[in-house]
Amino acid sequence: MKLFVFCFFVIANISNNGKASLESFAPSSDTNFLTDTTHKSDKSCHRPCKFNVKPRRCYYNFEVEPSIHDDGPALTINGFSPGPALHACVHDIIIVQVKNKIPDQDLAIHWHGLEQRGTPYMDGVPMITQCPINYGSTFKYAFKVSSPGTFFYHAYSVTHQSDGVYGSLIVDQPQPLEPHSSLYDYDRSQEHTLIIGARFPELLSASLNVINDIPPSSLVINGDVKGTKIFVMQSYGYRLRLINAIGLECPILVSINDHLMTVVASDGKPVQPVTTAAVKLYPGERMDVVVRADQTSGGYWLMAKGESACDNLKARSMFIYSGFNYTSMLEEVPSNELNYDSSSVITGQKLLSNKDVNIANKIKSFYLGIDKNAIKVKDEDLDYRYTSDAVPKKPTYPSVLSLTDSVVQINGKNFLFPNAPLLLKPRDVFNHIVCDVGAEEKHYDVQCLQTLKTTNEEVELILVNEGFNSNDSYTFHMHGYGMHVVASWQSPAGLPLSRKEFEKLDRDGLIVRNLQNPPIKDTIAVPNKGFTIVRINPDYGGTWLLECRSCSLTLPVAILISTPISLPKAVVDTLPSCGSYKPADVLLH
Ligand SMILES: *[C@@H]1O[C@H](CO)[C@@H](O)[C@H](O)[C@H]1NC(C)=O
Ligand SMILES: *[C@@H]1O[C@H](CO)[C@@H](O)[C@H](O)[C@H]1NC(C)=O
Repeated sequence: MKLFVFCFFVIANISNNGKASLESFAPSSDTNFLTDTTHKSDKSCHRPCKFNVKPRRCYYNFEVEPSIHDDGPALTINGFSPGPALHACVHDIIIVQVKNKIPDQDLAIHWHGLEQRGTPYMDGVPMITQCPINYGSTFKYAFKVSSPGTFFYHAYSVTHQSDGVYGSLIVDQPQPLEPHSSLYDYDRSQEHTLIIGARFPELLSASLNVINDIPPSSLVINGDVKGTKIFVMQSYGYRLRLINAIGLECPILVSINDHLMTVVASDGKPVQPVTTAAVKLYPGERMDVVVRADQTSGGYWLMAKGESACDNLKARSMFIYSGFNYTSMLEEVPSNELNYDSSSVITGQKLLSNKDVNIANKIKSFYLGIDKNAIKVKDEDLDYRYTSDAVPKKPTYPSVLSLTDSVVQINGKNFLFPNAPLLLKPRDVFNHIVCDVGAEEKHYDVQCLQTLKTTNEEVELILVNEGFNSNDSYTFHMHGYGMHVVASWQSPAGLPLSRKEFEKLDRDGLIVRNLQNPPIKDTIAVPNKGFTIVRINPDYGGTWLLECRSCSLTLPVAILISTPISLPKAVVDTLPSCGSYKPADVLLH
């Protein structure tokens, strides 16, 4: 009894400080869980968001398992891919009980773009913020949605995400607070969210040894190659929410025949509106666009066209004016011509923030030199965990690298996931695996836990895709914090860029930073033979990855931004422990 009282006190106390939500570690009384078998949103939280209304708790159950879905195998959530569309109003608490039913594989779900302010242990990164969810077990995610916008969720592992474990997550707010609500008449996120994924001919998570040889076979919008329908009424304006939910390096171009789009938000944050014929979304990016049905009543195609790893793949949706008989469209083969010129394509990081920001001129900066490098190590010395593969297979992971292969690295290193969940058990993490960002050369191994320790001050990260050994561009995702994208550039002459050359350009004042209204993004592209410079203000605690998910299906490419936080013991004690954690395949041996 005494213990109970003590716990109660701790819980109440934490919750008053706003440090952690009660739900995240309260004893489970799960009688009110709704099982989503309808593929529809949980109606309990999907509602018009009003002022002065009590936030709700939105409950979901996710069962993740392999199934045969439409035309092929997939990993599904409650039998569907994409999984349930999550809708909430700002300040609601989302509670998702995830059951891992993928035989012999570990799972974690990342809530892409959410801040997780005060709940860093809900960010869904295995061995960084939580223990992986073992086969057969469940984990309860619970977090407050503190900012409105277009987000999504996906399995942390790229292969699980590619196999179908993803879905949309829309956070609404009272309409008068929407800065651009005067530009549109309807914001029906339930009908007008388009989440773009890729399909593969077989399950990637079941084909880890041949992973590099399985290219995606199709693109899908809301799980469908050509059948999604968007109904509109003539002369009205609609806010569409576009999400690129692909884990590979697949930028997606989106356009609607004969219609212009006005971009109003990027990665969930409002931007100064720009009108264009086409937008490009990098993997993990979101864009909100307004489309006005101002053409002759009829049916039009919304086209999504892949690039790089998804080159030549297309998906489409119908944009249908009410009253139009679209039966004939179902048989139509739309022309491959895209009726816009490529210079009009808008990308998220070229947009400007809706509000001016106050950022310092001179601050501490860190150089992140990115390139493909040949590595000379024995395969069994490498640790492939959590990049493509949720199953820590070392040392039995089939060899996917040969000695002569090159891998994408940051400052000459690949990221190493720690031996214990860093956020929860920092003292259990081996010291010798940690290396400091900026001083990686002091570390001998190919892999180390690249860490940037920050306190409450703004830092600048200079991501230079040097391009000596590769022609690829890369997409990076920042967990937790939004990044101010202050500069981005690509060598017009197509010449590689060394650190020395970059520093000379910077010293000579040739690099112009937008310190007035840079866009705030969680997902950025780093152009080949070019750079992207971001500022972050780590004003809340946690262990946050800045990662390139699409750089590699073998060795991880990431750094960890670590900001001090002391988690209440009650939180740590209540979360599942992986102290005795053994990888699934090791158990079999
Ligand atoms: C729509 O068009 C198809 C043929 O294109 C026709 O068979 C069908 O009857 C039409 N439906 C309506 C409601 O007019
Ligand atoms: C990059 O492109 C250039 C020019 O097309 C080519 O000469 C070079 O071999 C390419 N490099 C790689 C690593 O593919």
